[in-house]
Amino acid sequence: MNFTLSSEQLQIQQMARDFAQKELAPQAARLDELSEFPSQNIRKLAELGFMGMMIPPEWGGAGFDALSYVLALEEIAVGCASTAGTLSVHNSLFNHLLFTYGNDSQKESYLRPFAEGKKLGAYALTEPSTGSDAAAIQCRAIKKGSSYFITGRKIFITSGPQADAMVLYALTDASKKTKGITAFIVDKNFKGFSIGKIEKKLGLCASSTSEIVLEDCEVPEENILGREGEGFKIAMASLDRGRIGIATQALGIARAAFEAARKYANEREAFGKKIYEFGSIQNYLADMAVKIKASRLMIHEAAWKMSEKMPFAQEASMAKLHASEAAMWVATKAVQVFGGYGYMKDYPVERYFREAKVTEIYEGTSEIQRLVICRNLMREIQ
Ligand code: CAA
Repeated sequence: MNFTLSSEQLQIQQMARDFAQKELAPQAARLDELSEFPSQNIRKLAELGFMGMMIPPEWGGAGFDALSYVLALEEIAVGCASTAGTLSVHNSLFNHLLFTYGNDSQKESYLRPFAEGKKLGAYALTEPSTGSDAAAIQCRAIKKGSSYFITGRKIFITSGPQADAMVLYALTDASKKTKGITAFIVDKNFKGFSIGKIEKKLGLCASSTSEIVLEDCEVPEENILGREGEGFKIAMASLDRGRIGIATQALGIARAAFEAARKYANEREAFGKKIYEFGSIQNYLADMAVKIKASRLMIHEAAWKMSEKMPFAQEASMAKLHASEAAMWVATKAVQVFGGYGYMKDYPVERYFREAKVTEIYEGTSEIQRLVICRNLMREIQ
């Protein structure tokens, strides 16, 4: 086992760290406060190749391996978790799907400009009546001639208002259950496509989240991704990758909260000494560091397995479960270390606390991760 990063991986990590600290971190609180989508940052990230991280150069990407991807994403998340969330969905849930399941013509139209960062992608699975039970979607696609007409609503869609296209799941044959779900590439310019309610959120306010409304939205049959009826498997396999991204976002939030708490504990004095000299604060800082390290090791293992084309779904779910719950714990304790100041917006830890929460919810709640993990554990002995 070798834990040494290659010189290329170290270079990518440093480039992401420099950008995140110089460009993202100074703006993160203001963008969050204003709920402003960081379009300018996304353009700059595109120049660094971060909008097509794992896509090969022949399709407009930077050709990073999965470990480089998580190294970069962790740094971005330390600087601005909203930007990291936008990046994770675009890279893991849009670009990768187009690269894996798209044909050459689909890749030319819907991968190259997205991997180059000229366009933004999204992923539309969740509906008002179904989140965790992804197989119960109601959105319907009816074929007429050489087009499908999709009707329904998707909710909580990351980058919904800004996305130029999205991979959207709809039922093409309700009688076949999961095998009747199909993945479509839906362009924002298609007739019958519109943006619905734009959500106001607890955290990650500089990433956008909206409803997507489809009213007989006409999608040409050449925009089916993969084969008709293959959509559920495509959705699940892509979430395995997406979960590594969300785990990494959680890791970045936890690290930012820990670094702020450690600095404060080294500056703030009480009862005539620095607060890190009190056992209770020492315990918090030590436990934070252990949880963060465990998250990172789990994420790196999952990313490495993904790069090596080994099965990684179990490791992805475990990493997502651990890293998100660790982030919530670390952010909660970071607020505690800051005491009353931690509750105020003058310090960043209240934002980290709000940002950590969603990592336990989106791309599969902690309860769903436990279900996936336990099903895999039982398969090992059956
Ligand atoms: N990879 C490939 N195929 C898979 C798979 C995977 N990881 N997981 C399941 N499948 C396949 C199964 O093999 C099975 O195929 P067969 O019928 O051929 O055997 C089929 O899919 C059905 O599988 P299950 O019986 O396990 O399906 P289920 O209905 O019991 O559901 C679940 C499984 C794990 C609970 C799933 O519904 C799930 O992951 N739910 C959470 C959904 C989720 O994460 N949503 C987040 C959406 S995105 C978001 O958050 C916002 C955003 O903007 C990004």
